[in-house]
Amino acid sequence: MTGGFKSRISGLGYSIPERVVTNFDLEKIVETSDEWIQTRTGIKKRHIAEKGTRSSDLGTAAARQALQHAGISPQDLDLIIVATITPDMYFPSTACRIQNNLGASCGAFDLAAACSGFPYALTAAEGFIATGHYRNVLVVGAEVLSGFIDWKDRSTCVLFGDGAGAAVVTRAEGSSRILASLLGSDGSQGEILKIPGGGSAFPPSKETLEQGLHFLKMEGSEVFKVAVRTMEVAVRDVLEKGGVKLEEVDWLIPHQANIRILQAVAERLKIPSDKVVINVERFGNMSSASTVVALAEAVQDGRVKPGQNVVLVAFGGGLTWAANLIKW
Ligand code: UT7
Repeated sequence: MTGGFKSRISGLGYSIPERVVTNFDLEKIVETSDEWIQTRTGIKKRHIAEKGTRSSDLGTAAARQALQHAGISPQDLDLIIVATITPDMYFPSTACRIQNNLGASCGAFDLAAACSGFPYALTAAEGFIATGHYRNVLVVGAEVLSGFIDWKDRSTCVLFGDGAGAAVVTRAEGSSRILASLLGSDGSQGEILKIPGGGSAFPPSKETLEQGLHFLKMEGSEVFKVAVRTMEVAVRDVLEKGGVKLEEVDWLIPHQANIRILQAVAERLKIPSDKVVINVERFGNMSSASTVVALAEAVQDGRVKPGQNVVLVAFGGGLTWAANLIKW
């Protein structure tokens, strides 16, 4: 972002549903094994929301924590952006629901960038703050993916989990700030990762339900290859934009899709594994919530310290990708 006011993250929070589903639990419902899931993905367990839980429920809980951490009240918010591919409903937006739950009085909208949702929304928030008309923007990544997973499809049901994370993005006055951000998309490859049914292409009907078009579909190995390549390039580009060298990166916080993807990206960049924040083993892939929850955990437990260079990078359906370089 050139010119205008700079942004920093002043508060973080997250909310993960209580119920744990282990790989052993999944062995009972599909033809899979703990060994396969751990070796191919690094995932040991994921949290799955109770029926009836909405993305806004998790998002609101995460947002309350982030507001408290930032030391501001909902009335101080100038805008709410919610990244989600599992909104409560088509409309009203999940952002409006969170605005009402919090008792905030500001604009609110949803943003759909799949697993790149949080860095996408953070970049959008940065743009609003740069104008000078917005001082505090709440950015939420919230997903209840479990309702859109075909629990009979072993190639996808073992991968995902539910959860939400939130960040308060504030006008930066000191050296802590977002140094650079980038967004990317390639709609020509949209077919490899999608929930095809329910929209104007395939409005909900008996047929779309019978065909399972409301479930997430993924060509896993294709997505894997593109994810590694794209995230590597996104990290290099955001560092160049921000004037920071690869050796100066203190923490790489990638989207938590699969531990093999994270390791491959880190290896290509020659970033040592102890500088990569990983939580996929406990939460699986929480789409737009993954990067923000990983960041929130790493800040809360003291791994991320003031003055350090943090890189967020994500990749997801669209295809979309995004990265932020942050001086913490
Ligand atoms: O958030 C962004 C979106 N998501 C991702 O980035 C995920 C990207 N992709 C991946 O993480 C990996 O491609 C997967 C974990 C999805 C799959 O791993 P893979 O090493 O690419 O395996 P594969 O799809 O090539 O499948 C290998 C075999 C197949 O059997 P055959 O055809 O070789 O007999 C699958 O049927 O593994 C089988 N398989 C399973 N076996 C046991 C697929 N899922 C399972 C399973 N348990 N859960």
